[in-house]
Amino acid sequence: MIPKVSVYLAVSADYYIAREDHSLDWLEHDPKGQDYGYNRFAKSVDLIVMGRKTFEKVLGFETWPYEGRTVIVLSRSLTKSDLAPVIARRVELLNMEPAEVLCYAEALGCTHIYLDGGITIQGFLAQGLVNEMILTVFPLLLGKGIPLFGPMDKEVALEVLDLKGYDSGLYQVHYRVK
Ligand SMILES: NC(=O)c1ccc[n+]([C@@H]2O[C@H](COP(=O)([O-])OP(=O)(O)OC[C@H]3O[C@@H](n4cnc5c(N)ncnc54)[C@H](OP(=O)(O)O)[C@@H]3O)[C@@H](O)[C@H]2O)c1
Repeated sequence: MIPKVSVYLAVSADYYIAREDHSLDWLEHDPKGQDYGYNRFAKSVDLIVMGRKTFEKVLGFETWPYEGRTVIVLSRSLTKSDLAPVIARRVELLNMEPAEVLCYAEALGCTHIYLDGGITIQGFLAQGLVNEMILTVFPLLLGKGIPLFGPMDKEVALEVLDLKGYDSGLYQVHYRVK
């Protein structure tokens, strides 16, 4: 069975996912520190696929957040020898088109992929290979930054499956990609 592909992201109200310098300090805007369903979502996936730039950002975190999880990093530029051995053991580096990634994941027996990184998501969306997107929207216009979406050759119809508002001022929209 082809795995389901889900996106779970925090975005600014103008749909940026990071500042231009890749900083994420604006995510600390939420004073309540709620998890917005992240842990439940993370438990439901059996494979994490992220772009090289997201991977490099995560490497800067104090701890590796995906311990014990299968993680694929997509890159056309990195090779395993570029990674410190401790990191190389934690991820698999692939240079594959989105459809090939899904076949690869299927062969691993994976059923649900957590797809991360703006450029990476755009590549899967362009091929019609994203099933759902859960976007937690911060009440902030960053004005510029790393965009979640970019120009596309064709429209993508979405269905709103759920819409939740939080007293922290954030809202979360759950889209099915038609
Ligand atoms: N707000 C949030 O919830 C959230 C979540 C995740 C990430 N972020 C932020 O988003 C930023 C990174 O996103 P981004 O859009 O700049 O980049 P990205 O999608 O993380 O990474 C893009 C890179 O991934 C590689 N790639 C993507 N698709 C590929 C494919 N099919 N085959 C081979 N390689 C492929 C390429 O790497 P090469 O250039 O090496 O070829 C490409 O340059 C970071 O600042 C991160 O902190 C925010």
